[in-house]
Amino acid sequence: MNAALPSTMLQAPKPPVPPRAVIFDLDGVITDTAQYHFHAWQRLAVSLGLPFDEAFNETLKGIDRMGSLERILARGTRVYTPQQKLALARQKNEHYIALISTMDASQLLPGALDALCAVRGAGLRIGLASASRNAALVLTRLGITRCFDHVVEVEDIERPKPDPEIFLTAAQRLGVRPVQCIGVEDAAAGVAAIKAAGMWAVGIGDAAVLAQADEVIPGLHRFDIARYL
Ligand code: BG6
Ligand code: MG
Repeated sequence: MNAALPSTMLQAPKPPVPPRAVIFDLDGVITDTAQYHFHAWQRLAVSLGLPFDEAFNETLKGIDRMGSLERILARGTRVYTPQQKLALARQKNEHYIALISTMDASQLLPGALDALCAVRGAGLRIGLASASRNAALVLTRLGITRCFDHVVEVEDIERPKPDPEIFLTAAQRLGVRPVQCIGVEDAAAGVAAIKAAGMWAVGIGDAAVLAQADEVIPGLHRFDIARYL
């Protein structure tokens, strides 16, 4: 059946212009910290008598800390003061930090380091656009801080994903136009942010969840920068 199609339709999709930078998300793309966020939130939710499962956790991926807490608390009826919310967020974060404190390079996801090296080797710039305030710590534990030309500070961002601000900031700091960037994300909110930024979106994970992505691959072991050049 494919033989009847023009050859252009058989090629994998490509960005409209050659990319000059790749901007990566961290959690769930480079390392599987998503499982630690899950455990830390689950422990908090259970202590508050609130429901929490994998399916609900999926909706929190890419969402910042306070945004995630609001969504969790919205599943119950109790009203919390801003101070109580900050204390709950701090509690979750303390548990999360304890979980990531023993991380090392062995927890890089398959193909992550090769992908970073290949992008650098191809002469493209590399950015990190993570919603996590613990991103620098995770990069240190993984030993890959020096792989990045720029890591966006969450403190510099006013509007969390799915707003494009964090990806646009990364592009600006890398000195490239958004259209020259490939964004790589495992969360629907992150893919939405990349598309809103006018970038090419590579989704990592489930194509049904990441329907807005330009293409979806199972992991960075299938990310081939040479294909875009
Ligand atoms: C994102 C994760 O990368 O960072 C979310 O996908 C997490 O699950 C968010 O809530 C914020 O992380 P942190 O470390 O600042 O609480
Ligand atoms: Mg992620």
